[in-house]
Amino acid sequence: MMSSTDRSLERLIADWDGEALVSRHDRETDTWMFIGIHSTRLGPACGGTRLRVYPSPADAARDVLRLAEGMTLKCAVAGLPTGGGKAVLAVPALPVGETRRQVLLRYGRLIETLQGSYRTGPDMNTGAPDMDVLSEVTRHAFGRSPDRGGSGSSAPDTAVGVWHGIRASCAHAFGSADLSGRTVLVQGAGGVGGALVELLVEHGAKVLVADVDAGRVRDLERRHGVDPVDPAHVVGTTCDVYAPCATGAVLTAATIPRLRCAVVAGAANNQLGEPADAERLRAAGILYAPDFVINSGGALHLIGTEMLGWDAATLAARVAGIGGTLTEIYRHADDAGGTTEAAAEAIARSRLSAAPAG
Ligand code: NAI
Ligand code: PHE
Repeated sequence: MMSSTDRSLERLIADWDGEALVSRHDRETDTWMFIGIHSTRLGPACGGTRLRVYPSPADAARDVLRLAEGMTLKCAVAGLPTGGGKAVLAVPALPVGETRRQVLLRYGRLIETLQGSYRTGPDMNTGAPDMDVLSEVTRHAFGRSPDRGGSGSSAPDTAVGVWHGIRASCAHAFGSADLSGRTVLVQGAGGVGGALVELLVEHGAKVLVADVDAGRVRDLERRHGVDPVDPAHVVGTTCDVYAPCATGAVLTAATIPRLRCAVVAGAANNQLGEPADAERLRAAGILYAPDFVINSGGALHLIGTEMLGWDAATLAARVAGIGGTLTEIYRHADDAGGTTEAAAEAIARSRLSAAPAG
């Protein structure tokens, strides 16, 4: 008999406007593998592989469908000749050692059967060593280790893109891109957040840092003199710019009224809890940098370097261009009296509809 979860999974797929949801249950490890191919209109569907424990397979599928659509928008706005996809490996517990390797090899063979219509890369809980394993069985994994011919971590370029985005956002909100004296609260000091903190400090910003890993905050405090913030009190802390660089769904009907910032500009994917949150931010007078625009430095790094053969100067120019793209989006949103999210989606959709149908 079909449970209510199964029915919602069915509804979820029926309501989705993407091209295909590929699924496989890995019996050996009880892992659900989902690959969402949202769009190949501009090119092969690209997006990372997320390894996570989910409450149910339907929750994992919901995540992959939303994330895959976000990748379509991200690649289109970034001007990349690629479409959007994403994969989720919904595991009972994060695998390690030989179990991890074997599940990755089985997943890599599944990718290979798609003949390049889906190309993966690192995402939450996956990194270069995992891409190295995948590349043993598939040609379609970005972000392998440099000694295996890959371009390595995309986090530093994502941080540089976010930094350009914060400058452009400050120029729009405050009339100056100069960050000296501005207070920026970075939530999540991992690969992206940690590198962003360094850039902000270097350019004179007053930086507040919150991370559930207290050791990471202490290290940044010692090295850069940043001020720690309790991760439970990020919402409600006064700052000029709030930069979410940890988990998604941080901007919701519950959190937005309590934000004490003028700008939200950070790296996390899927920051809005639901589409209506974009309007809630606009109504609250908070300038929101759409996540799929400001965090596209990672996609530019992986796809630009490994698929398009960009050199370092081309990559740097394209990552810096994220600032100009946001400025254009803010102008469009002001002119239309709409949200910045809607303005960014409009740019993506016009690029998608201009492409010849495959
Ligand atoms: P990471 O795993 O290296 O760092 C995440 C950090 O957030 C960790 O230090 C973790 O302890 C902390 N954290 C987790 N939950 C938290 C909470 N509730 N409050 C405060 N801190 C918390 O991940 P990475 O690579 O830095 O990515 C950060 C975000 O940016 C993710 O949402 C990721 O999907 C997104 N992103 C990353 C890209 C990349 O190139 N790495 C590209 C585009 C988006
Ligand atoms: N997972 C990252 C993102 O969300 C990086 C990535 C981009 C991985 C493109 C694969 C392909 O942008």
